[in-house]
Amino acid sequence: MLNEDNLKKLETLRGRFQTSQSLTLPVLWMIQEQYGWISPEAMEYVSHLLNLPVSHVYGVVTFYTMYNQKPVGKYHLQVCTNVSCMLNGGEELRDHICKRLGVSPGETTQDKKFTVTEVECLGSCGTAPMLQANDDYYENLSLAAVDELLEKMK
Ligand code: FES
Repeated sequence: MLNEDNLKKLETLRGRFQTSQSLTLPVLWMIQEQYGWISPEAMEYVSHLLNLPVSHVYGVVTFYTMYNQKPVGKYHLQVCTNVSCMLNGGEELRDHICKRLGVSPGETTQDKKFTVTEVECLGSCGTAPMLQANDDYYENLSLAAVDELLEKMK
């Protein structure tokens, strides 16, 4: 499942990490970068690759919310609705995005372009409200700024 580049990275990491267990996070991250999510088959693969119980891998995937347990769209919009964002319009932002894309939180648009996820604090409270789109943060958002962002992504 890991491509050639990632298998090479893994070999380098094996020299740095003392236990197989400590390789779980980076290997899962590589899988997610390749496939966009961590499937049950991928968890089995990682279990065999690192010689760890699949229950360990499953526990890690389900503990850390940054691992996607189902496929996501080309753009994964993670909208923070925790306290600072909520007080600055995060919930309104979430509702606006969902309405505009015709989905509920947790859903993907039919064209597989957007997935909207409501998330807890992303550590950017001082620039609330904010969202994360794939690996990028968009901060101090207004509804107009979100509309502009979605237009660019279309
Ligand atoms: S509350 Fe939204 S980033 Fe912290």
